[in-house]
Amino acid sequence: MKQFISVKDVNDINTLVKRALAYKADPLIDKTLGANKRIGLLFLNPSLRTRLSTQLAAQNLGMEPIVFNVDKEGWALEFTEGAIMNGTTVEHIKDAAPILGNYFDVLCIRTFPSLQNREDDYAEKIIHQFIKHAAIPVISLESATLHPLQSLTDLITINESLTESKILNKKPKVVLTWAPHIKPIPQCVANSFSEWMTTWGEADFVITHPEGYELSEDYTKGATITNNQEAALKDADFVYVKNWSSFKEYGKVTCTDENWMLTNAKLANSNNAKVMHCLPVRRNVELSDEVLDGANSLVTKEASNRVWAAQAVLAEILETLNKK
Ligand code: CP
Repeated sequence: MKQFISVKDVNDINTLVKRALAYKADPLIDKTLGANKRIGLLFLNPSLRTRLSTQLAAQNLGMEPIVFNVDKEGWALEFTEGAIMNGTTVEHIKDAAPILGNYFDVLCIRTFPSLQNREDDYAEKIIHQFIKHAAIPVISLESATLHPLQSLTDLITINESLTESKILNKKPKVVLTWAPHIKPIPQCVANSFSEWMTTWGEADFVITHPEGYELSEDYTKGATITNNQEAALKDADFVYVKNWSSFKEYGKVTCTDENWMLTNAKLANSNNAKVMHCLPVRRNVELSDEVLDGANSLVTKEASNRVWAAQAVLAEILETLNKK
């Protein structure tokens, strides 16, 4: 693997999931694969799970991780080509990124969308400039439109749960349901989950959301899409709960209907569905306490699996680097 920006960088999803589960069973089996290799983790936005799980994964492979909170401790970066830098930005990405490329062997970036300009966000201007100017393998820790490490984790968690519950001879029904939120949230997790589920192709995948919350068709081809949440949840084996702001009326909150919150009553006609969320979650806004604290909640397991997802991706990138 040369980089990890989306599912398109993955050769074989099931092989990657298997590798992650092998690391879960024995975290230190490849403890020297990353010896003498440095990984830089740059955060332009906050994180708990992604930051800590990626550091742990790197250490399990013998790498030295260095974290830099660019948003709080770094110079304000400029990303516009030809910018006259007489404003608030201090350093151009063209000057900063090549240095990072010399300091590190692998570079990880977290950067959120502006939610102001759809064209700029969906062009992935920031992460692509890091890729271009750093010239070393880049891993997305969530970008303007996608969160591939989260989606790989979600697929690992679904696979693990299918094995544990012995649902192996039927296609599981996996439902992504929109949930309310108090502020505009990126479409990244929902885009990415849809892209991974439709590419994986081993589930009946349904997306349900209020009118006006259609995701970009680039990520949803092959999914069944409905505004009827009750119908979507019927017979579901997995329910993935997530808020996102409107793609059409870009970055806007156009629905505040609290009835979209997932509760146990809504799951009554599901197939005893397991419930997922990437976290952080707004309790009793997106999901009720009873669901989050209930026996079918996978959220803690899902977040814990972030280590194994990051480790599998890093291992594939290290193998490519070590061949050079
Ligand atoms: N799910 C996720 O990416 O969590 P963090 O924002 O805490 O990294």
